[in-house]
Amino acid sequence: MQKKLVVLSGAGMSAESGIKTFRDADGLWEGHDVMEVASPEGWKKNKQLVLQFYNDRRRQLLTCLPNEAHMLLTDLEDYYDVTIITQNVDDLHERAGSTNVLHLHGELLKVRSEQNEEFVYPWTKDLLDNDINEQGHTLRPHIVWFGEMVPELENAIPLVEEADIIIIVGTSMQVYPAASLISYAKPTAQAYYIDLNPAPIKQTPCDIKVIAMKASSGIQSIIEELKTNS
Ligand code: OAD
Repeated sequence: MQKKLVVLSGAGMSAESGIKTFRDADGLWEGHDVMEVASPEGWKKNKQLVLQFYNDRRRQLLTCLPNEAHMLLTDLEDYYDVTIITQNVDDLHERAGSTNVLHLHGELLKVRSEQNEEFVYPWTKDLLDNDINEQGHTLRPHIVWFGEMVPELENAIPLVEEADIIIIVGTSMQVYPAASLISYAKPTAQAYYIDLNPAPIKQTPCDIKVIAMKASSGIQSIIEELKTNS
């Protein structure tokens, strides 16, 4: 049986594809206060602004390509049972060819009913104020906003608990509950944290090797070791 490898990816994973991370120097996200564009309160206050914001992000995503870091993770599927747990709302892991991708914070290329969150639809064009589904429900971006439940968390936890290898890549480890997932690792797991500017990681139940590099070079630096130890 193959060993289990779990990747916990964040915005830094997609930076080399040209997608901006969230916590850049000015504390703004593409010029916006995060709470204005990524919270239920922001949505209530100015739906037009939020729609426009995600429409811009969606349009931008459609011009981006997976980068070398995404590709390298796909290669590891020949050696490990790989699952990617991502905070990213882009589809770059999938486009690179990764088979098992769990999106903790939703997906930019999906929208859902505001009246029943079970109704989720693929969406590649702009979402407009008057778009509705077949039942007449209004639609919103399929994104987990600040203050909202993270329904995929319960699927993510057992994956981390069972992982033999964990690669955390491109995340500031500031947003919970995503940042707490590493605490579910088993003591015998080997973890790596690859980030251009790694955050201090407090206690982890397992050994963690910090690699201060960009995602592609960082993954490249451990890939042979991973293949050999598979
Ligand atoms: P952040 O923007 O907080 O952190 C990005 C991390 O990537 C930082 O630690 C950078 O040092 C690192 N980084 C930047 N470029 C890199 C590169 N080329 N290679 C490797 N690392 C690089 O992003 P997240 O931690 O993903 O939530 O943010 C978590 C959540 O906060 C997001 O999912 C989003 C946001 O608000 C929602 O939208 C709900």
